[in-house]
Amino acid sequence: MFIFILCVFITLITLKLKLVYICRENMSYITNNEIEKYVYNILPDSPSILKELEKTAKSRNVPIVGPMIGRLLYIFASVSNAKHILEIGTAIGYSAIWLGLAVKRNKGRVKTIEIDRDIANEAIKNIRRAGLAKIVEVINGNALKILPKINDKFEIIFIDDSKKNYPKYINLCMKLLHKNGLLIADNALWRGEVALESKSENADSIARFNELLMRRMHSLIIPARDGVAIGIK
Ligand SMILES: C[S@@+](CC[C@H](N)C(=O)[O-])C[C@H]1O[C@@H](n2cnc3c(N)ncnc32)[C@H](O)[C@@H]1O
Repeated sequence: MFIFILCVFITLITLKLKLVYICRENMSYITNNEIEKYVYNILPDSPSILKELEKTAKSRNVPIVGPMIGRLLYIFASVSNAKHILEIGTAIGYSAIWLGLAVKRNKGRVKTIEIDRDIANEAIKNIRRAGLAKIVEVINGNALKILPKINDKFEIIFIDDSKKNYPKYINLCMKLLHKNGLLIADNALWRGEVALESKSENADSIARFNELLMRRMHSLIIPARDGVAIGIK
């Protein structure tokens, strides 16, 4: 009996350790590896500047949303006929360019906020090379300080900056969204860690954001790539 209980205990501990390992090391915890490969392989090539930025991001470990979520943002921006989009967390301008390409047809505008001056300058150059200098405006600064000073309203707000800030954006973004506006947040599953009992600081912050989002808006999480949370005001 004692040996049986010991075996069950060891199996449970091993399973938990395996889950933590998979969550921390492998994004395919969320989507099966083969399906992930299939979904990415079947995607058409991104426009050339974006393809180039995908390579840059890979070689320098810049965390961009990548071609699948880039396309998702493009589709949301296109079907909603959005003319005013706000992005929090620009990095090298990859997702801002996807959004800019979508609103260009509508004469719409994208504002994107980046805290790091050098990265913001790099994004400005990339956005100019994409022919979107008049469409996408990069604001250099801390989004937490900038958002309360913005007077415009947006049809889409895309959150993709420091994960510890996520819960603070719910109230700030609700004020800036039009009725029926979309709040979209990347990394909503944080490699699956949000589902674990003991979470890292980032996963805990995202989990709190997800709960607030579900309470405040009609919302859902799409388990694509690292998870995308979407709420409609
Ligand atoms: C995940 S990257 C953004 C990737 C980008 N959305 C893309 O997919 O191309 C996060 C960026 O947010 C920036 N960031 C972090 N905290 C910020 C804050 N409080 N305000 C503005 N930007 C911030 C970081 O410097 C980093 O470049």
